[in-house]
Amino acid sequence: MIYYRPTKNEVQVFETATANSLPVLLKGPTGCGKTRFVRFMAEKLGRPLITVACQEDLAAADLTGRFMLEGGSTVWRDGPLTTAVRTGAICYLDEVVEARSDVLTVLHPLTDDRRTLPLERLGEELVAAPGFQVVISYNPGYQSVTKELKESTRQRFVSIAFDYPGEDVESEIVQKESGCSPDVAGQLVKLGVGSRKLRSHGLAEGASTRLLVYAGKLVQAGMPLKEATHATLVGSLTDDEEMSRALSELVRSVLG
Ligand SMILES: Nc1ncnc2c1ncn2[C@@H]1O[C@H](COP(=O)(O)OP(=O)(O)OP(=O)(O)O)[C@@H](O)[C@H]1O
Ligand SMILES: [Mg+2]
Repeated sequence: MIYYRPTKNEVQVFETATANSLPVLLKGPTGCGKTRFVRFMAEKLGRPLITVACQEDLAAADLTGRFMLEGGSTVWRDGPLTTAVRTGAICYLDEVVEARSDVLTVLHPLTDDRRTLPLERLGEELVAAPGFQVVISYNPGYQSVTKELKESTRQRFVSIAFDYPGEDVESEIVQKESGCSPDVAGQLVKLGVGSRKLRSHGLAEGASTRLLVYAGKLVQAGMPLKEATHATLVGSLTDDEEMSRALSELVRSVLG
């Protein structure tokens, strides 16, 4: 089973939502475990998972499907959302605010008590198979004001807020994921926490759990801790010289 370390009541909330056929919205900063959580829940609930990474030119037809010209005739090809609706899978739309608004509109009848997907081109209205569930995620920090979820979308979901876990739990995750020692993991987490505090001093984002895991993997592969942290917790967090100096200073003060 894929490793996921629960950090509060998220497993229970998700299971209750699933049992009641309710869609789920996951929000939280980059690299805090949202995608890992969905993969874990799909496995735990024994449901197939279909993931779609949303970007600005993703159109509704990319999700629902379209007619394609194949060998001289036109045939309908289901998109990932339609496949999920037919098979009762979990459909996970990552970074959903990036998608065009017609994509969110397609989700509306699927995420209320109708649970239907109108396929106008086919002249059909599919009723979602049992087990079908929409899960969306986004990072509230990045998006501009124009890229907020509409109330009518947001209020169709049960929400689970994610954040970086407490030091002990994060250290446990870093050890498990990278194979590094408790001592190294502890120092990396201290650096992570310190970098997050630099947000109030102009750093766009502090180090994610993902980045701490990267650092742990480099150390585990034989790289000295200081070098590993420079390649991740400094280099991957900023291009700004002054901020690099502040991060290097943080590394020095934690690692000595
Ligand atoms: N609670 C957790 N249990 C296990 N691993 C975790 C957990 N939180 C974070 N991780 C580790 O952090 C990495 C990044 O997590 P994940 O890919 O789920 O982030 P995310 O929240 O989906 O980020 P993004 O918004 O950038 O897509 C995982 O690959 C895993 O190694
Ligand atoms: Mg993700």
